[in-house]
Amino acid sequence: MRNIENPFKFGTIVDEEYFTDRVKEVAYIKEFVKSANHLVLISPRRFGKSSVVAKAVKQSGRKHITVNLQQATSVSDLSAKILREFFKVHPLGRIRHLITHFRVIPTISTNPVTGSMEVSFQPGANEAVLIEDVLTLIERAHSVKDRMIVVLDEFQEIRDLAPNLDKQLRSIMQEQKHVNYILLGSQESMMSDIFENKKSPFYHFGELMRLGKLPRDDFHHYLSDRLMTIFPDSCDELSNRILDYTNCHPYYSQQLASNVWQVGVLQPGAGDVFRAAITNIVTAHGLDYERLWMNFNRTNRWILRRLTTGKPLQSGEYHTSTIYSALKRLQKDGYVIYSDCYEMEDPFFREWIVINNE
Ligand SMILES: Nc1ncnc2c1ncn2[C@@H]1O[C@H](COP(=O)(O)OP(=O)(O)OP(=O)(O)O)[C@@H](O)[C@H]1O
Ligand SMILES: [Mg+2]
Repeated sequence: MRNIENPFKFGTIVDEEYFTDRVKEVAYIKEFVKSANHLVLISPRRFGKSSVVAKAVKQSGRKHITVNLQQATSVSDLSAKILREFFKVHPLGRIRHLITHFRVIPTISTNPVTGSMEVSFQPGANEAVLIEDVLTLIERAHSVKDRMIVVLDEFQEIRDLAPNLDKQLRSIMQEQKHVNYILLGSQESMMSDIFENKKSPFYHFGELMRLGKLPRDDFHHYLSDRLMTIFPDSCDELSNRILDYTNCHPYYSQQLASNVWQVGVLQPGAGDVFRAAITNIVTAHGLDYERLWMNFNRTNRWILRRLTTGKPLQSGEYHTSTIYSALKRLQKDGYVIYSDCYEMEDPFFREWIVINNE
């Protein structure tokens, strides 16, 4: 067995040797934050939002913090998390005087095991006050010439954290002149509703940017380059098969390439390594797929099955409005995505459906 590290990565934020393309997007975001405006970035799940923004803000050379709203359990927790990130950029000693304005003083301690700083607020404190004080601190510590970039990832969660939090945040954020907000979200319908619905407090809050899949040529080059070590003769063909199968989806392409690599290393005589890799992934997720499938109603099952065949959905079987509303729901729940056409989000789930409905 050859002892070379798998050159593909999937699931977490990617950078450096695991990151390809997005040159235009990175340049655009870097340029954009030089203005006094805010940016809203939307795409289906795992298209690379967090990665592209992380890269752009790092390259911008500006002070920046990132907080994922999905990891916050309450507004108090969100406030503490923002503050903790803020302290990583601004050593406490230098901004201590600004904390004295806080109406509720945070508890700050060092975790003896990890050495990292922990921030919390006493339970029961007025949450509206906490978040306002934290965001005001950021504004006070910065200036028009030195704006901070605040990235709020999975921003659609704002609606689940607390009633009217969107209203409150909007009213604080719109007064700020020393912060550029970058708000990311993956639930397309929810994000569109937050920023496009006239009744929403965040209506037209910032520039809306949509992230597409990775361009095929670059991605092909990226995959082929890495597969070459194990498959010098077939890396080009394998990369094509991977991208055809995943339709250039960033995450699934990396996942499949990683498995193809793995099969090449561990099962050198496996025959068709590409099919072997797919079988491995589908088998590993078989139970999850089965559970998901059992919970779909008849219409959803019909639509998903139909999508796997590539045949048109308007076949007379269901009324157009029924298909449309079911598609919207499936899209909202992340099973179906729309980039050039409606397609199943997960190509391995698609495979499972084909196998189990033959
Ligand atoms: N520029 C890129 N080059 C190569 N692979 C990428 C790139 N962007 C994303 N990926 C792949 O997609 C995966 C998901 O990326 P990332 O977490 O940035 O996406 P996301 O849109 O923020 O996802 P989520 O919806 O889960 O928050 C990465 O782990 C990687 O495998
Ligand atoms: Mg993300």
